[in-house]
Amino acid sequence: MKILVINGPNINMLGIREPDVYGKNTYADLCEFITRSAAELGVEVELFQSNHEGDIVDRIQAAYGNIDGIVINPAAYTHTSVAILDALKAVSIPAVEVHISDVAAREDFRQISYAGMACVKTYKGLGFEGYREAMKFLAEHAGKSAE
Ligand code: DQA
Repeated sequence: MKILVINGPNINMLGIREPDVYGKNTYADLCEFITRSAAELGVEVELFQSNHEGDIVDRIQAAYGNIDGIVINPAAYTHTSVAILDALKAVSIPAVEVHISDVAAREDFRQISYAGMACVKTYKGLGFEGYREAMKFLAEHAGKSAE
């Protein structure tokens, strides 16, 4: 099973940006965590991060036919992007939404998730662990062993 993990704008600034909200670990640490977790789960993983909405749409489209599951943290685009929602719906690849922080406990403008409308599940407020849970869910959802 091949999983694509997409991270949106400012996730590359982890460790620098608002450490009280997102923690002190860096994006490189996140990539290492995801790669290690994927190996433990027995799934193949590909990582993609972009600060640009159109590039994220392009990457989702390019996943059509060659990716079995998508884990996506669209970051700020979560709350604004119908284009990312439409791209996820267009490819019909099972997708799981992840947020490092607990968006439900934050500002009103973070309470809407467009991308989430095309996702089978959402993990929020679990820090990096949310990415591992999302990959595990997809592995199990696809009927493959996640042990
Ligand atoms: C985030 C939450 C979003 O509201 C915010 O814009 C982000 C990160 C999270 O992972 O907690 O950039 O998606």
